[in-house]
Amino acid sequence: MTSDPLVERARAAALAAYAPYSRFSVGCAIESVGGEIAVGANLENACYRLGICAEIAALTAAQQAFGLANIARIAVAGGHVGADGTLAGAAPVTPCGGCRQAILEAAHVAGRDLEVISANGEGSEAAAHRISELIPLGFGPASLADAG
Ligand code: THU
Repeated sequence: MTSDPLVERARAAALAAYAPYSRFSVGCAIESVGGEIAVGANLENACYRLGICAEIAALTAAQQAFGLANIARIAVAGGHVGADGTLAGAAPVTPCGGCRQAILEAAHVAGRDLEVISANGEGSEAAAHRISELIPLGFGPASLADAG
């Protein structure tokens, strides 16, 4: 277990993932500036490419709960759910490229270089990075400045 409650919420969210194909359960917890927390988990589909990542699910929940503008920080954790029903796995989960892009959009709305905490399934490791580190030279809303 980590000492960060947000990471623990992400680990708990992973237990409610629907990931029968990859068997890799990911949870994401997003904290607002006011201390509210929205969560999401990956949701897979028999048509594999239609699966949804935990971060997208959590960003949608955060938008509904308190708005992207109020996001303070994000935690992601993942691994496999063991026979005892707990989340296991040694490697910290960093957001996939598409999710980094979605978090970059939220960071633009929030006006903050959002902190993203990547934790492993067993909860023994967590590392914090800024979204600008995770997606350097990203294409964001400001990149559309020259649109007609
Ligand atoms: N996954 C996420 O939910 N978030 C990520 O950032 C990485 C990958 C999910 C997608 C798929 O359901 C499973 O993990 C294996 O790729």
